[in-house]
Amino acid sequence: MMKSAIAQLNTALQQAIVKAFGPDLADTDPILVSTNNPKFGDYQANVAMSLARQLKDKPRAIAEKIVAQLDVSHLCKPPEIAGPGFINLTLKAEYLEHLLRQVQQDPRLGVEPSKTPQKVIVDFSSPNIAKEMHVGHLRSTIIGDSIARVLEFQGHDVLRLNHVGDWGTQFGMLITHLRQVCPEAITSSGQIDLGDLVVFYRQAKQRFDTDEDFKETAREAVVELQAGSPEARKAWQILCDQSRQEFQKIYDRLDIEIDERGESFYNPLLPNVVKDLKASGLLETDQGAEVVFLEGFQNKAGKPLPLIVRKSDGGYNYATTDLAAIRYRTQQDKADRIIYITDAGQANHFTQVFQVAQRAGWVPESVEWVHVPFGLVQGEDGKKFKTRSGETVRLKDLLDEAVRRSRTDLEQRLAVENRQESQDFIQTVAARVGIGAVKYADLSQNRTSNYIFSYDKMLALQGNTAPYLLYAYVRVQGISRKGDIDFDDLGENARIHLGDETEFALAKHLLQLDQILAEVESDLMPNRLCQYLFELSQKFNQFYDRCSVLQANEPQRTSRLMLCDLTAKTLKLGLSLLGIQVLERM
Ligand code: ARG
Repeated sequence: MMKSAIAQLNTALQQAIVKAFGPDLADTDPILVSTNNPKFGDYQANVAMSLARQLKDKPRAIAEKIVAQLDVSHLCKPPEIAGPGFINLTLKAEYLEHLLRQVQQDPRLGVEPSKTPQKVIVDFSSPNIAKEMHVGHLRSTIIGDSIARVLEFQGHDVLRLNHVGDWGTQFGMLITHLRQVCPEAITSSGQIDLGDLVVFYRQAKQRFDTDEDFKETAREAVVELQAGSPEARKAWQILCDQSRQEFQKIYDRLDIEIDERGESFYNPLLPNVVKDLKASGLLETDQGAEVVFLEGFQNKAGKPLPLIVRKSDGGYNYATTDLAAIRYRTQQDKADRIIYITDAGQANHFTQVFQVAQRAGWVPESVEWVHVPFGLVQGEDGKKFKTRSGETVRLKDLLDEAVRRSRTDLEQRLAVENRQESQDFIQTVAARVGIGAVKYADLSQNRTSNYIFSYDKMLALQGNTAPYLLYAYVRVQGISRKGDIDFDDLGENARIHLGDETEFALAKHLLQLDQILAEVESDLMPNRLCQYLFELSQKFNQFYDRCSVLQANEPQRTSRLMLCDLTAKTLKLGLSLLGIQVLERM
């Protein structure tokens, strides 16, 4: 809703500038910003300073002339001029109340869907077959899901793609090794689980690195697979299915929807990638490999760096597949925006792939591609997140541990409060809080920085955590239970009347949801939404500590109940866009 307020203020200011100084200044930016100090109102226009030189006048005098022409009386209290010539604007209570009423009646809470809906591809999660999903994939999964949810809510047509690593040399190794040590694993399904597979993978890799004969046989197996040998194909299929089932368990626990379109999907398209690069004159041969020399990437000797698209042994690689993928996504899927969510370490890979795709003329100017990088997950010692024995942490164990700890916390709390709850309740709360805490801890960080994984911090009831936000929601539900209130039936004439300072602060914050979502939509930073919800919870708690609700007299009581309800609805919607489900009690 604040988006429309800002738009109206901007227009009114522009009109005032024209009235004061003539049509030449019609396109002047009023430089309207939110103030961070309520003393200066809600917004401040800084245009007077920027016009001083052009108009050869003092900023304060310019501000006075603008204000004399400014008509914002339906939105604001009388404008004030401060300091050298800031125009301070404070929204009127009646106007805020009017906006709140509109939000109240709108299932989308005042957030208008995009007027220019796009076809968007979000490429996220993307683990590798025969390997366990690890915390890096966890970040991609959580961030990608949240970005997809926000874009969907904003009205875009989102295709969520899992670019699974299901092709390449690892299968040659694995198939060769399994043929020798566990043939039944690749002749019929259901013989081994992902844990076994990971062990076999490790063994195969070790042999590949140390045993020349093995290496050669493994290479032959890759060729076999790529040539479509039925036996190799079947083995590959079984291995993929096995991994897929394990991945799906994680997605179910995390409530993630995603379509698999793995690397193998693009396999038939790879020869044409190379052929068309050749036709466009970009392809060169470098030490037996087919490459495209990159602009702006140099080796130590200052020579342009090649992007290999076909290795000297004739094989294709990760980059070839991504070239095929970006072409398919623009030409077949007709995507307007393609978003890739991986760790920051892959930034160069994507820049290089985009550059080649662009130079080849495969991506129209209008298509926006974005690499959304994220930092590393670190242990509390600041080093790479590992188990005590130094191995990478399995996602399943990590989620189990979060839920286990959240359950312990809950049981302790129940004991202290002397509450009896069913096992069912305990399990649901522990799972939602545990998983929600893991997600929120990840999303609330600026994703580009590394973050320290701490169960204690993410599960704390105080601070910028999922439990704190969930608790604010629960608090409102508690009010409704205690007062036997049906928020959806507060009466025809129920109105919000703002009085206390904390009510104003809460109301203004509630009205900013549309602005925040628009920001996340453009800069793909879910931490902005987290920060918004955290501040919303804080403002709600301040209001609730200061203002009585159930004990208040009418019409204040109903008005405050409405504020509570709107807070809960905003929290519920906001958290759902982070992939976190609320609880009625906890
Ligand atoms: N499988 C890759 C990995 O585990 C991530 C794939 C990301 N997406 C892409 N189109 N390259 O690092």
